[in-house]
Amino acid sequence: MCGIVGYIGKDRAASVMLDGLKRLEYRGYDSSGMATYRDGALQSIRRTGRVAELESAVGEDLGGELGISHTRWATHGDVTEANAHPHTSSDDTIAIVHNGVIENHLGMKNFLTGKGYTFKSDTDTEALANLIAYHYAKEPETKGKNRFLESVRKSLTHVEGTFGIAVICKDNPDELIGARRGSPLIVGLGKGENLLASDVSALTHCTTNVVYLNDNEVVHLRPDDFNITTITSANVEAVIQQVDWDTSAAELGDYTSFMEKEIFEQPASLENGMRGRFSDDGSTALFGGLNLSPQELLGVDRILFLACGTAWHACLVAEYLIERFARIPVEVEYASEFRYRNAPLDKNTLVFAISQSGETIDTLAALREAKRKGFRTLAINNSVGSTIARETDGGIYQHAGPEIGVASTKAFTSQIMLCAMVALYLGRLRDLSFTDGTKIVKALKALPDQVREVLKQNEKIEAIAKKYAHYEDCLFLGRQLMFPIALEGALKLKEISYIHAEGYPAAEMKHGPIALISKDCPSVFLTTSGEIFKKSLANIQEVKARKGAVICVASADCELPDDLIDEVIRVPECHEIVQPILMSIPVQLLSYHIALQRGCDVDKPRNLAKSVTVE
Ligand code: F6R
Repeated sequence: MCGIVGYIGKDRAASVMLDGLKRLEYRGYDSSGMATYRDGALQSIRRTGRVAELESAVGEDLGGELGISHTRWATHGDVTEANAHPHTSSDDTIAIVHNGVIENHLGMKNFLTGKGYTFKSDTDTEALANLIAYHYAKEPETKGKNRFLESVRKSLTHVEGTFGIAVICKDNPDELIGARRGSPLIVGLGKGENLLASDVSALTHCTTNVVYLNDNEVVHLRPDDFNITTITSANVEAVIQQVDWDTSAAELGDYTSFMEKEIFEQPASLENGMRGRFSDDGSTALFGGLNLSPQELLGVDRILFLACGTAWHACLVAEYLIERFARIPVEVEYASEFRYRNAPLDKNTLVFAISQSGETIDTLAALREAKRKGFRTLAINNSVGSTIARETDGGIYQHAGPEIGVASTKAFTSQIMLCAMVALYLGRLRDLSFTDGTKIVKALKALPDQVREVLKQNEKIEAIAKKYAHYEDCLFLGRQLMFPIALEGALKLKEISYIHAEGYPAAEMKHGPIALISKDCPSVFLTTSGEIFKKSLANIQEVKARKGAVICVASADCELPDDLIDEVIRVPECHEIVQPILMSIPVQLLSYHIALQRGCDVDKPRNLAKSVTVE
């Protein structure tokens, strides 16, 4: 959610940090700030609003050899300059930027007030700035020990909650300290300069050599070296990794928004996700990183999927597909519920998390809980080196490229494609025949071109969006495999256009939601041919009878009576396993164009952040 960039080295701290902050802008934030070391003191500038506000406040003076900076997404206290980071201790010794939540900050504040420290903000972070200053003032100068580092360590042992921090001290102009617990922090290693960031994208303009910190680790950086220990002073052997980052992937090019770009990138992101993942005989999928043998997978009696938001919708698609093609019972849980629910799990359960960012705190905590209980954990994840990728026993990288738009689009379709491939793989280990396997592989290989076909209807969908953008309520209805897509359609519309939207299994409408139907509440039906099609038509009739407008996203082979449907968007006929992907595209475009019509910023919807690293 919030972003951190810290720098030590050459006389360009402010410019490097501003560049880094701009690269984090997509994550969602409400204010930003930086502190640099200048002439024996810590100088801090903070602004509400966009990074451009901070940039113009910084002006021409882009130097400094040491600094920390931050984009904030408010958790404690309003969006004000006083609450923006960095926070400085009341004796002006320590400046800190922080992601996460310090749960015991009130107790700390009481203690520190008693010791004469004062507070200027409503944040939890300021308590930690003062606590470090307190320990720093108390810490004796001991030979062989670094007083600044010791005071950070000592303070962190008192923190309950989560943190990714970068800290500087006015007496130590050649030292930068970082630490993490539950909130990502990455060290970037340059030549004569080193960096800290909460996201690898904020480092790659300077270096591609990185070290991912683990929980409860502290890094001490100088311009030419670094040292990692734990909070309790144990040595840690750093693993330096090379990140493979295509900078053009994070640029807009000819598109007007990242959301538009990412919708149109889907043929490529799907191709990238399936590349090299089919068997030579074309009858099954192959995954290099599951770290589970076919024998071990045959011993799996149940699969539990964990995720949040859009990724949770992908899990629902996985449930339908794995139960249908592999006949393995699947359960899907919101990660945030699972972590506190203590659900009884069968011992042969495989736990699968889906997360685009790989940093969502609830998904991570749920996975850790499953691991603690001894379950094998796997993940479908789009961020190489993310915490979830590192902590699971194995997994599947999406290779969808960075997703910058806050509303997930290409990551979602890539996740459901990989779920389809997992269903195929597990099915082929069990009862799915060679012939049925080859049909699925063909359908998957045909998918990118079929998505290109659907994308050609962009203008038609834009015209429909213009007609419907003024409504304030909307229902999304679908059955079976289309139900998760209905949920996702409703989520997409509400998050970027602020229209109230709900997704339901179409037949469920009669049990309550039908009360909402009127001329002021259109419904988007997702219909495919097959045995359930006639039932969907009956549901459409129920809506029309109550004067509700109907937009139908339908597969090419559905025969729809003209008098029932107000708008139709067709997708090509395809194997049912890829239907959820094709049907997602019009739903994304519809929400996108409606949001634009309403003047909304589709890439940075209000109140939302790209990666939710707080509970
Ligand atoms: C909605 C959206 C969110 C995320 C959710 C989980 O468009 O993007 O609902 O899907 O916050 O995020 P990840 O997949 O990063 O764990």
